[in-house]
Amino acid sequence: MNIIITGGAGFLGSELLNSLLQQFPNIETVKVVDRIKLDSHLVTSNKVHSIVADITDKAELENIIDKDTTHLFHLAAIVSSHAEQDFELGMLVNLKATENLLECCRQANPNIRFVFSSSLAVFGGKLPAQIDYMTAMQPSSSYGTQKAICELLVNDYARKGFVDAITVRLPTICIRPGVPNKAASSFVSGIIREPLKQQASNCPVDVDLPLWVSSPNSVIKNIIHASQLDSKQLSGFRTVNLPGLKTSAKEMLACLVKLKGQSVLELISYEKDESVARIVASWPQSMNNEKELALGFVKDTDFNSILTAYLETQKQSKPIT
Ligand SMILES: NC(=O)c1ccc[n+]([C@@H]2O[C@H](COP(=O)([O-])OP(=O)(O)OC[C@H]3O[C@@H](n4cnc5c(N)ncnc54)[C@H](O)[C@@H]3O)[C@@H](O)[C@H]2O)c1
Repeated sequence: MNIIITGGAGFLGSELLNSLLQQFPNIETVKVVDRIKLDSHLVTSNKVHSIVADITDKAELENIIDKDTTHLFHLAAIVSSHAEQDFELGMLVNLKATENLLECCRQANPNIRFVFSSSLAVFGGKLPAQIDYMTAMQPSSSYGTQKAICELLVNDYARKGFVDAITVRLPTICIRPGVPNKAASSFVSGIIREPLKQQASNCPVDVDLPLWVSSPNSVIKNIIHASQLDSKQLSGFRTVNLPGLKTSAKEMLACLVKLKGQSVLELISYEKDESVARIVASWPQSMNNEKELALGFVKDTDFNSILTAYLETQKQSKPIT
């Protein structure tokens, strides 16, 4: 296997790199393509090549993708609130670079399994209580619109036999380690992660607002599963709604209180951010994932398990205060 991960130095990209190396001894190379250099502790073997490049530069992509490439995981993106603030940058990275990547794969080797990471932000408008794979895309943000257009391109490149492509729509991932980012959903991790570090965090939406989430662990398993599915299993539109779990800030905080006691709530403020609240409220609150589960994709059981798994990963890196 000769693998490329765009955005591979980011949160999910780094997790994906580790999992791929553990799971597939037959990997020959993994090119991690990102604007930033891959953290040196993640270069665990000479199979891993950190390539600092801008995916909006097509000439760079033509040098990186070649006939030996077998899998390309396209994770690089300008995330939701950032793409909303900077329309031009979002169009360039989220839309035009994806089109360039598909075209470069088409020219290099049509058998490349191209896994595109989309988002539930492709949905919006007046959604039914539960959505499924037939629910129409009606994005309410520039980020969602850019992802939606790319999904159509991925599907058409696959339909034409140009690239063996598939889209996975990711739920909101929590708990994301590190620091807040420019995603509208950043608070979903922040309201748990920050108090665990004795730091304050704001919940900018109604605490009862349903949130559709997945643990990093399940989402990485599912991204890898998408890269291994037989093309015959991908009849019709090549987009998969990755399974998620319905929760809310209220339920998440209740789990945190069980762990840390009532006083932990003193670290939480509830200042509404209209822009974030509008974007997050436009996303699906629940999905019917029967089709995806039948294809072998996995889901989390409850938020408490997500929290427990997060605490375990943090223990391994450094003690939680
Ligand atoms: N984390 C989530 O909750 C979530 C939810 C839905 C969808 N997604 C999608 O999953 C993917 C990965 O998300 P993440 O949370 O790891 O994001 P991230 O911001 O941690 O990583 C994205 C990476 O892309 C890189 N990048 C951005 N522009 C680039 C460019 N022009 N050239 C090269 N590299 C560039 C960044 O440097 C960064 O390392 C994204 O496509 C995102 O839209 C994530």
